Amino acid sequence: MISEKANQQMDQMIARYPVKRSAMIPMLHLVQAEEGYLSEDGIRLIASKLDLTYMDVSNTASFYTMFYRRPMGKYRIQWCRSISCMLCGGDALREHLESRLGILKGQMTPDGRFSLAEVECLGACGRAPMMQINADYYEDLTPAGIDRILESLK
Ligand code: FES
Repeated sequence: MISEKANQQMDQMIARYPVKRSAMIPMLHLVQAEEGYLSEDGIRLIASKLDLTYMDVSNTASFYTMFYRRPMGKYRIQWCRSISCMLCGGDALREHLESRLGILKGQMTPDGRFSLAEVECLGACGRAPMMQINADYYEDLTPAGIDRILESLK
């Protein structure tokens, strides 16, 4: 359920742009900040305000890995699966991470603390292998480093 305050903020966002649909990305961020992910109702509300179809908004949201279409963990882990990280042992490290979390990529821990998703290059190839947790980058990862990071988030 989108709050009245967020509803008003969306209207203000739309007013800032000469073309309504230009407000879509900030509106998606706002809905996700309100709900923790992009619900169908949230997508429908944005589409309605922008005079677009549900699919117009849904297709745009699905292009970006920072938008979530289902509830995610408190700590959203994005694991880089691209070439530099892969060549630096990323696959084995991801398996270590999955083992420590007790989940596989694409899943969330039963307590809702962690979700794990594989993503393409996050632009930190020189410090591979790496992952992003919420807004923070963790680079030059090792099994022991992953263990320390997870421990610090408990
Ligand atoms: S390949 Fe992993 S950050 Fe670029």
